[in-house]
Amino acid sequence: MSEKPLKILTVVGARPQFIKAAMVSQAILQHNEADKLPHIIEEITHTGQHYDENMSQVFFGEMGIPEPVVNLNIGGSSHGEMTGRMLLALEKESLDRQPDWVLVYGDTNSTLAGALAAAKLHLPVAHVEAGLRSFNKQMPEEINRVLTDHVSDILFCPTKNAVENLKNEGIMKGVHHVGDVMYDAAIAFGKIAREQSNILLQLNLTPKEYYLATVHRAENTNRRERLSGILQGLNQLGKERPVVLPLHPRTKKQLDVYNLTPLCSNLHLIDPVSFLDMIRLEQEARVILTDSGGVQKEAYFHGVPCVTLRDETEWVETVERGWNRLAGADPEKIAAATDAVPVGRFDEYGDGHASAKIVARLVADLRCPRSTWTGNRAVYDGAQEEEERDQ
Ligand code: UD1
Ligand code: UDP
Repeated sequence: MSEKPLKILTVVGARPQFIKAAMVSQAILQHNEADKLPHIIEEITHTGQHYDENMSQVFFGEMGIPEPVVNLNIGGSSHGEMTGRMLLALEKESLDRQPDWVLVYGDTNSTLAGALAAAKLHLPVAHVEAGLRSFNKQMPEEINRVLTDHVSDILFCPTKNAVENLKNEGIMKGVHHVGDVMYDAAIAFGKIAREQSNILLQLNLTPKEYYLATVHRAENTNRRERLSGILQGLNQLGKERPVVLPLHPRTKKQLDVYNLTPLCSNLHLIDPVSFLDMIRLEQEARVILTDSGGVQKEAYFHGVPCVTLRDETEWVETVERGWNRLAGADPEKIAAATDAVPVGRFDEYGDGHASAKIVARLVADLRCPRSTWTGNRAVYDGAQEEEERDQ
């Protein structure tokens, strides 16, 4: 018997979202190839938040992400303007496409706009990477995550800690601990990167004899004293070993605005790299220094110690287990934090099948009659609140 296809409207816009969505798109493809019912139609909407070739298109090509059905070309403006314009455009997209699910990722302005547009239209919202908290409301990401979680119908948590955070805010229904889709990505692309990337050769790097750094957070790049502190710390390390710093466009701009390029004399500044090149750089780094959420975890996935250039992190388990040290923007702390030697592995990020679990859950929940949905914003009739059994 034929069954009506399930339509998912995926909203992405920023670099880390392409990487996360790539894994779920792959799981959707596998679901369809196995002739499982219902057939899933995924329509990807790119908000245009990130638009440079090496911040966007390179990921679609390299990771085999289906072409977006539309690119809204909304990037490069203030938070209010960007989010507002996205909200307007995504409301129209959601109305026109009438999806069964609107699927959003992470904590960017694109995430919030997608979730809010859908929730107001009473379309079911699924949030991947739900429940993360820094408890720092100065971060635009914290506002985006809290609001998105509170309007989502189904919340896919990467860690137990994320489940706890939601519980503390009274969100217990529609919550699923599925593991981290970025761990899925690290497994799927780790081997390919080893085989195909020649970035180490290109940059003339010796394995375990260089540091890899990334800096892009607004809290670091929009404050001269913080950006200068971080660069001084990295530059100090650059006297010992090469420090490779793929520069986020925001940071590149701020180096000029604050006239900080002289602090980069010992740094190897390069343009943002593709995912395979990034993984390869991560795999062989001696230590990774970053303020990125994704890169902190990837350091752990690839067995490399991390120094986080922030005062707090959402990924607390990496710190608790000794793989990650918080150094803020203090040059001395940054330089001193690279001597950690973490030991032991932990399995907090799932089993590498988070994406497949997400797809299975989207299918299963849609089969519940919608009249039985009663809320996080709304929840269905009960059965799905427990953790995924196969975790
Ligand atoms: C955004 C997310 C952040 C995420 C990061 C991933 C928000 C509030 N922030 O931060 O959570 O960690 O993406 O990288 O959504 N720019 C370009 N080319 C591009 C993209 C950006 O030149 O392709 C420049 C523009 O000048 C833009 C600035 O970078 O104004 C910042 O971009 P934006 O998307 O606003 O914030 P991110 O710092 O990238
Ligand atoms: N990344 C990449 N090329 C780069 C820098 C980062 O492919 O030059 C990848 C990185 O491996 C990780 C993701 O981008 O998977 C992290 O994105 P970002 O740091 O921009 O955002 P965050 O995770 O902090 O939201």
